[in-house]
Amino acid sequence: KRHLISAADLTRDDAVLILDTAEEMARVADRPIKKLPTLRGRTVVNLFFEDSTRTRISFEAAAKRLSADVINFSAKGSSVSKGESLKDTALTLEAMGADAVVIRHGASGAPYRLATSGWIDGAVVNAGDGTHEHPTQALLDAFTMRRRLVGADAGLGKDLDGRRITIVGDILHSRVARSNVHLLTTLGAHVTLVAPPTLVPVGVEQWPCDVSYSLDKVLPASDAVMMLRVQRERMNAAYFPTEREYSRRYGLDGERMAKMPEDAIVMHPGPMVRGMEITAEVADSDRCTVVEQVANGVSIRMAVLYLLLGGSGPAAPSHPSPAA
Ligand code: CP
Repeated sequence: KRHLISAADLTRDDAVLILDTAEEMARVADRPIKKLPTLRGRTVVNLFFEDSTRTRISFEAAAKRLSADVINFSAKGSSVSKGESLKDTALTLEAMGADAVVIRHGASGAPYRLATSGWIDGAVVNAGDGTHEHPTQALLDAFTMRRRLVGADAGLGKDLDGRRITIVGDILHSRVARSNVHLLTTLGAHVTLVAPPTLVPVGVEQWPCDVSYSLDKVLPASDAVMMLRVQRERMNAAYFPTEREYSRRYGLDGERMAKMPEDAIVMHPGPMVRGMEITAEVADSDRCTVVEQVANGVSIRMAVLYLLLGGSGPAAPSHPSPAA
């Protein structure tokens, strides 16, 4: 049985196989008929207990481009709001013949529980669990960096080696940061986290990256700068930084962007809060890859579904992570 629960589970070979497969899938998007018959007759369920725009839509687009049947489940408006458990929801999906379940959940570890419970037989793909991981986001980010910084034909041994990636903002609540630290370091990059001291997780010194509290110092030595949203919904209101104080020290505006090397890129997983972590001038600039990241997300999710459900690759992601 094969699942994608955590970027930390991926070996370099696994990650490169997914990135290379995504390059093949991106070619499908350039064709007049953007569909492959690969997953005809298979059913992919999007099981979303938390809000999403990009991830849910791009998994749906990816599954449809591979000719799978797609069932979209949103906890809002479902029997979850009447108190139904994850187990009973999963058993319902199993009864409907789900071959893959793409799950987003507010609880860290929910995808791992689903993958190891025996409630369902299908593959489980983590689409973001609490503050734990968001592995397909990290994969699409790495794919975008590889295309922009290395070139689409980057091969094993060259992937992001020595590239300097800076991730800025609310690291404490960010599953995107955690997945990116694991994946980017696996691919040979050097990651620096920049955040206010109150938004750095306890135990970060055990992560394979550096931590800085000064964005201005780090920018000149960054090949890519990934800005993160402050996740107010996961914070006690008393700890909200004010917009003005946060953006003065940790926001990216045109003046700060000018400190980056000429070819360096600005990334954001979305959703962006313009005026807080990023100004409109930066978000709309040619150096910002946010829309490209969304397009690349479809190719990555096609690759993941293909490798888990229909592919014959030798090293598709296979090991569920330990409980988070
Ligand atoms: N980046 C990301 O996960 O966006 P959504 O929350 O809109 O899916």
